[in-house]
Amino acid sequence: MAGSSVVLAPSVQELAKQGITKVPEQYLQPNQDPVLVSNTTSLPQLPTIDFGKLLCEDVIELEKLHNACKEWGFFQLINHGVNSSLVENVKIGIQEFFNLPMEKKKMFWQTEEEMQGFGQHVALEKEKLRWGDMFLVRTFPLHERHPHLIPSIPQPLRDNLESYSLELKKLFVTIIEFMTKALKVQPNEMLDLFEEVDQSIKMNYYPPCPQPEQVIGLNPHSDGVVLSILMEINEIQGLQIKKDGMWIPINPLTNAFVVNIGDMLEVLTNGIYQSIEHRATVNSEKERISFAAFHTPYKGDIGPAPSLVTPETPALFKTISTEDYVNGYLANKINGKSYLEIVRIQNS
Ligand code: OGA
Ligand code: NI
Repeated sequence: MAGSSVVLAPSVQELAKQGITKVPEQYLQPNQDPVLVSNTTSLPQLPTIDFGKLLCEDVIELEKLHNACKEWGFFQLINHGVNSSLVENVKIGIQEFFNLPMEKKKMFWQTEEEMQGFGQHVALEKEKLRWGDMFLVRTFPLHERHPHLIPSIPQPLRDNLESYSLELKKLFVTIIEFMTKALKVQPNEMLDLFEEVDQSIKMNYYPPCPQPEQVIGLNPHSDGVVLSILMEINEIQGLQIKKDGMWIPINPLTNAFVVNIGDMLEVLTNGIYQSIEHRATVNSEKERISFAAFHTPYKGDIGPAPSLVTPETPALFKTISTEDYVNGYLANKINGKSYLEIVRIQNS
């Protein structure tokens, strides 16, 4: 964001600790769309995909994956194969990391030039703030790593994050492989892009809030990336997705990952899979912690896979370089799925 006046927001976790009863003006974002409250049990249920079955080449599970990506753009992945003690250690480590004293956390705070680390960047002095702290760091490719951030993370979290991010990168590529099967595209049309994966990890900490309806943890957005894999650290509800115009809460399953399609995958699949808007709400009782891993190609062009472009299904999106895509997305203010509209081919 060259030349723009970036503002660094203070820690919401510290603010919430002060036992305030009223939220400061800058956090007030009332009039969010209400969540769908059902008085029956018939709330639409987010699909659950069994990764173990996919690995056993279960065709029914592959069809379930395909439908989840087409109809929902979001699913919970069970039996994902990531070592459960590693997952437990990452969960403990992240909770401890957020509980470090402020003096220690300051070492990791974002700067005006650097979006990685703790904090939230806002573009304007008067912009509303989210009720949450985050810690963002780019993990892959190795040569793009920030020289000081990861090496300063306390042990054993640092090593555990190292193993976890590598596992997730592998899981990501395997999920894409199953998607190419489900879509019946030539595997290399998509997989070649992921020979070098770009991955960032983001920890989100949403403290309890005395006026939870008046604030938002994370504003409605779709992820600009190919695929996000989210882990609920303490299994508190808060994540909601917009389906058929309604906000639906996600009930996190124990030991599952929440996987969602990003805008880039919508482009690569020529709109067959769709990214979906989601948001994070907060509550007055307990903090909520989530941990997301975002994946994109490092290089190459983002455009509809050639075999998905036919006379009957013409290209819905332009093909642009990953670099242009990422820069365009970051420059665009986070606002629903609006960046996808910029790469959409306008039919006259
Ligand atoms: C994100 C995101 C949801 C959550 O970080 O992009 O959507 O529940 N997080 O923290
Ligand atoms: Ni998101």
